[in-house]
Amino acid sequence: LSTRITLNNGTSIPQMGLGVWKSNNTQAKEAVMLGLKHGYEMFDTAKQYGNERGVGEGLVEGLKAVGKSREDIFLTTKVFGGDQGYQETLDAIDGQLERLQTDYVDLLLVHWPVTGKYVDTWRAVEEIYKAGKARAIGVSNFDNERMQNLLDHATIIPAVNQMEYNPLIQERDILAFNQQHGIHLQAWSPLGGGAVLNDPELKQIADKYNKTVAQIVLRWNFQGGIITIPKSVHEERIQQNADIFDFELSAQDMQKLYSMNQEKRSLWYNDFSWEGGDIQESVEEWGD
Ligand code: A2P
Repeated sequence: LSTRITLNNGTSIPQMGLGVWKSNNTQAKEAVMLGLKHGYEMFDTAKQYGNERGVGEGLVEGLKAVGKSREDIFLTTKVFGGDQGYQETLDAIDGQLERLQTDYVDLLLVHWPVTGKYVDTWRAVEEIYKAGKARAIGVSNFDNERMQNLLDHATIIPAVNQMEYNPLIQERDILAFNQQHGIHLQAWSPLGGGAVLNDPELKQIADKYNKTVAQIVLRWNFQGGIITIPKSVHEERIQQNADIFDFELSAQDMQKLYSMNQEKRSLWYNDFSWEGGDIQESVEEWGD
């Protein structure tokens, strides 16, 4: 789990981390503690997930339990769609840090390119970076058109673009464009939310290496230079997903996974013009 990548601002990021999307505060706390127990050094949350408090509690308790400190881990959170805009973003960050029980995040991402707001949001994110409250800054779910527009206005180039990325959706154009600008792709839903796990061909490859399909897909991410954050709330899977460093996929098997590409995004969004409207405004009310 110690393999790291250097981002375009010099920050070092672990290539493998734990996602907590769709987990409530209690589950997120538990998952973070289990992640720390099994050697994870990176944790990825968002205000929109409604579990920053759980993640913060999990980090405080979990770090104590494993004898590590805040500096030993890499923490990501994201600007909530409903908070976008210059002043709104600046106003929101302190509450996020308070819930996460930390003075800074290692990576702050603009969660979605909310139309008409993401450029101003980015200016605020740059301020947050300069104030030391985020060690690196980036975006999520930005297609090339919106990324170009952001680059036209930005003074700091995003370090990361977090995209849905798995064998079925490889975002080749976005990956290439981001690489040209030194922006690292980070994969959300690297397991396709579970969708690729029953693929018979992947099962064959997995059997050959004596690994699970999840491990094959995550190893493929890793060997492809992608930063990945699989989500699980189950200890056995959390452990399994981190156990991908003792084998290597052949070039042929890597190619097999690349050839599965369908450029098919999840059904719940079909482009990136999400307006930030259909989510609860007050995530703090989500509770446990
Ligand atoms: P769970 O949290 O119940 O373990 P993704 O990160 O691509 O969104 O995928 C997460 C989904 O895949 C979750 O539903 C998670 O369920 C499941 N999952 C995560 N790791 C594994 C694994 N090693 N084997 C099977 N399912 C997994």
